[in-house]
Amino acid sequence: MKKDLISITDYSKEEYLKIMKLASEFEENPNQDLLKGKVVASLFFEPSTRTRLSFETAINRLGGKVIGFADPGSSSASKGETLHDTIKMVSNYVDLIVMRHPLEGAARYAAEVSPVPVINAGDGANQHPTQTLLDMYSILKTQGTLDNINIFMVGDLKYGRTVHSLLMAMSEFENPIFNFVAPYELQMPNEYKIFLEEKGIKYFEHKEFNDIISEADIIYMTRVQKERFPDPIEYEKVKNVYILRNSMLEKTKANLKILHPLPRVNEIHSDVDSNKKAYYFTQALNGVFTREAIITHTMNLK
Ligand code: CP
Repeated sequence: MKKDLISITDYSKEEYLKIMKLASEFEENPNQDLLKGKVVASLFFEPSTRTRLSFETAINRLGGKVIGFADPGSSSASKGETLHDTIKMVSNYVDLIVMRHPLEGAARYAAEVSPVPVINAGDGANQHPTQTLLDMYSILKTQGTLDNINIFMVGDLKYGRTVHSLLMAMSEFENPIFNFVAPYELQMPNEYKIFLEEKGIKYFEHKEFNDIISEADIIYMTRVQKERFPDPIEYEKVKNVYILRNSMLEKTKANLKILHPLPRVNEIHSDVDSNKKAYYFTQALNGVFTREAIITHTMNLK
């Protein structure tokens, strides 16, 4: 049976741990010819810098070949070809499909159509499971554990798919504490809060976090997702809602790390970049090793 990765819940806790171990091995030794003779399609129907380029780097480091597009305007989707037909065609050419698409559920649909495995590189505001695995790898590397982590998720918790996937994955580990910091308009959707409640996991909701930032092990900042707002006026109201500044980090824990899936707009001031607690650029590098791990696991090569 093919191993798609569409939602983070497609993997068990054992698989999360296997990916962490493989990522660490790939970090030690990134160039391995495990994909020699294989072709991977990289289909990006939505803009991307990190996800696409780190996937393509991972494929190259594994000795595979990449085909695809970074702009759907250069594909026959622009002539009206359906996702069904695009996937039917591309799956004839390749051994694996990596796809980003603006519609929630598009990746699951592609996996149903495709005889070769599909990896979801982000579907609308829904899920971004490979980002979550690299986030977990970053947490494990910096905290030494995935248990007992107090995570502050800050910003656009409504449309930010990375926080949805991360919340679900971290709920598999011992005693996570979630602090959700968002304005009313961008609160964590109820379905995710119900998910935590059913598992008996604690979460707290805040409008501000200056006074409680000293409790955090991880601050996971997010960009307000302009492209997902139905009404641009609503975006204007909340676009500058939180800006993390270096001065706010004075009384934080020694082990604190600041993560961000990137790209950032202005939610982390550039004066944070030189603080040793800023981890977001290394986090993005971790994406290469984690995606090498995901690809080899998906293709039963490791
Ligand atoms: N983190 C992330 O998904 O970044 P890109 O949109 O640049 O791929």
